[in-house]
Amino acid sequence: MARRVRSGGLMARTGLCGTETGNGESMKVGLLTSGGDCQGLNPTLRAVAKALYNLVPDVSIYGVLDGYAGLIEDRIRRMQPADFEDIIRLGGTILGTSRQSFKSMFADDGQLAPKAEQMLANYRARGFDALVILGGNGSQKTANLLREQGVRVVFLPKTIDNDISGTDLTFGFDSAVARATDVLDAIQTTARAHGRVFVVELMGQKTGWLAVHAGISAAADVILIPEIPYFPQRVYELITARNATGTSAVVIAVAEGALSDDERMLTKEQRVELTGTAGVRLADWLKQQLASGGSSQEVKLVVPGYYQRGGTPTATDRLLCSRLGVKAAEMVAKHQFGCMAAEIGTEIVAVPLAAVTGKLKLLDANDSLIRAARQLGIVFGD
Ligand code: F6P
Repeated sequence: MARRVRSGGLMARTGLCGTETGNGESMKVGLLTSGGDCQGLNPTLRAVAKALYNLVPDVSIYGVLDGYAGLIEDRIRRMQPADFEDIIRLGGTILGTSRQSFKSMFADDGQLAPKAEQMLANYRARGFDALVILGGNGSQKTANLLREQGVRVVFLPKTIDNDISGTDLTFGFDSAVARATDVLDAIQTTARAHGRVFVVELMGQKTGWLAVHAGISAAADVILIPEIPYFPQRVYELITARNATGTSAVVIAVAEGALSDDERMLTKEQRVELTGTAGVRLADWLKQQLASGGSSQEVKLVVPGYYQRGGTPTATDRLLCSRLGVKAAEMVAKHQFGCMAAEIGTEIVAVPLAAVTGKLKLLDANDSLIRAARQLGIVFGD
């Protein structure tokens, strides 16, 4: 049984990506999409494949089906160039995806679990020269584990949450922002027509990037995010102040992981006991509060959920996917393994997985984005 190897070698210490000498000969490359889907997976797969076919003269590409589950169970199929045609505008993933928690990669004694051993065995048995993994934070940890065990990994940052450290943007984020903005825009008009309060719960368990970007874009009145604990009373005060001016419609964009100041004090176990999601709890509280204050104003809850993750990727996302995918192919061709293709500023660069894995990219409460939103009159409830 292989022991778990902690990253601490030269590559990890120097922060350099491992570069071996690429010889331009034949290569067998596996592609894998892991974790929750997003709109940018297919455009990225397409870019990796097209660039690999160009850069590596004798490359064969294999699709690992349904994320790490396919590697564990050896469900892998040979891909052809035609498989990557006409998928730039297609949401979801042609390979399928699944969630395999990082925790489940270990047995109780801290050794690799049989499923992790199985992935290593199948990677070796297939004779892969590289594995290109498209995933979010959890998938990145497993990718890094595979790297520590000798798998030649190139990682690509996907998630609608935009919470991966080491890259300014993740692919899928822009498309989700567009969808969430579309929902908020539609809600704005109906909210005004009826003078109602709308709580719109957006995705984002741990981070508020999506809620803040969409909230500003659609001129939400209130944005509530996990990074800034909020006081429900402040939201209630805004509603009553609005009513006094005769403009009673209020649109609240709340990230699903937002916590009130009281909820923040709870232990992890106590939080699990909370009734409903952040949007449900807030909408219920506001309804009660307004009713007990003698107001008949209606509070409505909208949860767009997976709508935010589905459908066609935006042009901005397709560009990012194309650039990141080409970079990943270049990294494979140059044997630059153990790294993530990332966007930093206007550049697409290789960032060592060892340096960024396990670090969630949170919004700073003093971020210029938050400051701009406050200047626009948006309330964060703090
Ligand atoms: O990580 C992306 C994400 O869409 C989160 O915003 C959301 O909380 C979660 O995935 C939902 O996960 P699942 O697809 O497993 O329900």
